[in-house]
Amino acid sequence: MIAPSASNDRPDVIVIARSAIAAAPIAEMQALCDALASRQVAAHTTFAFTEQGEPALRDRLRERIDAGARRIVLVPLLVPMEPGLANWIAKALARWQAADGKPWPPVLLAPPPMAMPGAADLLALAVGAADHHPQPPPPPLKAEGSIVPAQKHRVLVCHGAPCTAAGAALVWGHLRGEQARRSLRTAGEGMMSAKATCLGPCSLAPVVQVWPEGTTYGGVDEAGVDAIIERHILSGGIADGYAYPADGRKQRLRRTGA
Ligand code: FES
Repeated sequence: MIAPSASNDRPDVIVIARSAIAAAPIAEMQALCDALASRQVAAHTTFAFTEQGEPALRDRLRERIDAGARRIVLVPLLVPMEPGLANWIAKALARWQAADGKPWPPVLLAPPPMAMPGAADLLALAVGAADHHPQPPPPPLKAEGSIVPAQKHRVLVCHGAPCTAAGAALVWGHLRGEQARRSLRTAGEGMMSAKATCLGPCSLAPVVQVWPEGTTYGGVDEAGVDAIIERHILSGGIADGYAYPADGRKQRLRRTGA
């Protein structure tokens, strides 16, 4: 049992996971935070998602900073651990803080819980508690039909190792959030999005490609996603500041969006 810390020493804690779009996993995150809160190691305990799901990490950070947090600890609940997490979180924090235009409290990154000494005990407890035989669900009584969507544009977000280390999860999360918020599946000519393995130009990470034009975008961040949506998906043009031509020459990453 971890001893509670003095209340004025306690940080705000944000437990972070990748994605959740259904009610049940969000309730699971809340229950986990409630359990952690009962251990009295945090002034405030909450959760956020780095890819898809509400709240996004950036929004949650803002909320806690606006609430007056003096120190924030991020606890990454990612199994297996994302190798580039510390790298892209550091870059994203610097970008978000610069965009906020005001001083932030220290934001620390905790080691992944599964790397802690008690993790094996936790797994052993889970093995001992196994009592459930997974069963396939019953077949549906009536097969549902499907509408084939037009979705002319295909947006691929690279999740190869260099792009993941450069923050592909944030790019993906922001794209999916905007896709839902702005009904981009059916707006205009429609679009769909998918994760991809290495798309080739790794030194331009994070890389996004838009088809059927086959346009490659590099150094994409949240502002880059917005530009691609506005200028390419909805207007049929090119998001110039982020586009790299397939001209047979070696391309170097320009400063973001420049
Ligand atoms: S890892 Fe993304 S382009 Fe290679």
